[in-house]
Amino acid sequence: NVAYLIDRHGRVARDLRVSLTERCSLRCTYCMPEEGLPPIAADKLLSADEVVRLTTIAVRELGISEIRFTGGEPLIRRDLEDIIAGCSQANPGTPISMTTNGVGLKRRAKRLARAGLTRVNISLDTVDRQKFAELTRRDRLPAVLAGIEAAVAAGLAPVKINAVLMPDNIDGAVDLLAWCVDRALSLRFIEQMPLDHDRGWQKATMIDAQTLLTVLARRFGLEPIGRADPSAPAEEWLVDGGPSTVGVIASVTRSFCQDCDRTRLTAEGTVRSCLFSDAETDLRETLRTGGSDAELAELWRYAMWEKSAGHGIASEGFTPPVRTMGAIGG
Ligand code: GTP
Ligand code: 5AD
Ligand code: SF4
Repeated sequence: NVAYLIDRHGRVARDLRVSLTERCSLRCTYCMPEEGLPPIAADKLLSADEVVRLTTIAVRELGISEIRFTGGEPLIRRDLEDIIAGCSQANPGTPISMTTNGVGLKRRAKRLARAGLTRVNISLDTVDRQKFAELTRRDRLPAVLAGIEAAVAAGLAPVKINAVLMPDNIDGAVDLLAWCVDRALSLRFIEQMPLDHDRGWQKATMIDAQTLLTVLARRFGLEPIGRADPSAPAEEWLVDGGPSTVGVIASVTRSFCQDCDRTRLTAEGTVRSCLFSDAETDLRETLRTGGSDAELAELWRYAMWEKSAGHGIASEGFTPPVRTMGAIGG
């Protein structure tokens, strides 16, 4: 008796993204301020059991078919293995993935895979150590590379690499793709969205998909293969005849909102349907005061029905949302 999450624009959410913390081990300049985000009070953060309960309702009552954990940085949670084991046991057969910066993954990849994690996407903007330290304000490139290697060894496949396109790393884009092709990792470049903490984003200085493709095409043969499925954010190209691919997530210049199939749960237990809409529906209070699965599911359906049509980044009068990327998790 599943009743799906449907919005007034006719979209159905099948993909759940759960943020587990606002904390992070890096400080990417396009995402976090130097001092990090204001901490979520301990009593507001969902516990492992609460996360498991809500994701299970999403799968059983609402038809969610894939769960992804994000942050901040999900590896900051010491109980991540418990969360994943709980979700996996309660929802056998539902893929569980994670978007991570890879720091600390080396030590935990095997355990996470054993707990039920299916695959990981790892953020890596450059393979130049100096540049990495500038972009992330932390000299942790070796830890990230070790994390990627460990993820592959643990069978968390396919490991996808995410790189946000910034003026300071466009020169390294060719090197990064060559590095990924050598290791049979699939790479996706992401157009920077106005979700930075410093509110410094400007359309005029953003590196767009077309600029990137022009740079890459000077060095690689690129053959368009489209999207893996209609709701996938990335458009893909075969590199030098394959099997490697490169993707572009062109949220700004080729918006994909009309095919969006995502719903989000924040680390504080609110449903956030769109990255760009601050409209959130609280589930935590109902959860903690004895609410039933049916009541929680109904609140979630209401939240989804209200989902906005899209982000309007490129339109006149666009104002960015209050929450920045670090507090939504992409
Ligand atoms: P896969 O299933 O592996 O393809 O995952 P994914 O690409 O959906 O997840 P990931 O966390 O790797 O997301 C990569 C980037 O895509 C995010 O950082 C965002 O920049 C972008 N993205 C994901 N979902 C949305 C969305 O709903 N809207 C917009 N505008 N961008 C999104
Ligand atoms: N625009 C686009 N992507 C971003 N990310 C972080 N901030 C932004 C932004 N402003 C990316 C991270 C990671 C994913 C969760 O989101 O690099 O790959
Ligand atoms: Fe979906 Fe909102 Fe992202 Fe557009 S901006 S793809 S509607 S979550």
